[in-house]
Amino acid sequence: MAPVAKRLEGKVAIITGGARGIGAAAAKLFHQHGANVIIADVQDELGISLCKSLTNKNIDYLHCDVTSEQDVKNAVDFAVSKYGHLDIMFNNAGISGEPIKRPLEVSTAEDFKRVLEVNAFGAFLGAKHAARVMVEAQRGGVILFTSSICSVIGGHSKPAYTASKHAVVGLMKDLCVELGQHGIRVNCIAPGGVATKMMNDWMKMEREGTEAMLRSIEVLKGSVIKEEDVAEAAVFLSSDEGRFISGVNLVVDGGYSSTNAASAMTLKALKNKDKI
Ligand SMILES: NC(=O)c1ccc[n+]([C@@H]2O[C@H](COP(=O)([O-])OP(=O)(O)OC[C@H]3O[C@@H](n4cnc5c(N)ncnc54)[C@H](O)[C@@H]3O)[C@@H](O)[C@H]2O)c1
Repeated sequence: MAPVAKRLEGKVAIITGGARGIGAAAAKLFHQHGANVIIADVQDELGISLCKSLTNKNIDYLHCDVTSEQDVKNAVDFAVSKYGHLDIMFNNAGISGEPIKRPLEVSTAEDFKRVLEVNAFGAFLGAKHAARVMVEAQRGGVILFTSSICSVIGGHSKPAYTASKHAVVGLMKDLCVELGQHGIRVNCIAPGGVATKMMNDWMKMEREGTEAMLRSIEVLKGSVIKEEDVAEAAVFLSSDEGRFISGVNLVVDGGYSSTNAASAMTLKALKNKDKI
């Protein structure tokens, strides 16, 4: 990549959940764009081998459970002690919880609490500790969250996951106002379905099967959303090109959430039968 194309040159970024999936794609792309990256995850082997594959230069892995305030504090303090400051906090770690979409009456309280704990409370801790050092440094910054199309539409997941992603958007909106006073931008990215391990496990399919299913329901035909598409949005929102964008839940779903897929399919079926 030509130096002129590096949009995060010299920036310091923490990416939670960066050992695989969307977070790993973001770690690679941020690194390619010249950022100093710290991957904060609980999957040590994956995180370490990702750093190795990127030559271990300007990229570190730290064990960090986002539900542990001490771990999150350590990750942020590591960034400051190594680089002097933190520019970007990408709170991306998330779980879907119990794999099966269950009716509400058989959903467990433990699962609801755990999904909220990782997805919403973990995001809060990341934002809290990033803000602590960003406000003190008085050089602005970017706090980014991975929400989901489940923060925009219902019925695509389960109550715990959908509630957790709405909570993340609420957190983002509140912090955008509070931290805007300090020149800190706060945004979310809301991906549609991406065939990561989380999604594949949930669907009980391999990547190919999940992607075939996603392809069949996409509004924007021709491809499916890849981890890299979400990573590109993260680079844009983190870069100076996005310098006046704050308080946005940027949907990256090829238009999927702007329509009602079920009614579209019914209409298509009726058309095929010459009923309308
Ligand atoms: N894949 C999708 O279809 C999709 C769609 C919308 C939103 N999302 C969101 O994108 C984010 C990334 O998910 P993904 O699809 O890449 O899944 P993934 O399972 O591949 O990656 C999630 C990463 O988060 C890490 N993680 C989980 N719990 C953690 C914890 N307590 N502390 C630190 N790290 C933890 C995992 O180890 C993993 O590396 C999540 O927030 C997810 O909710 C995913």
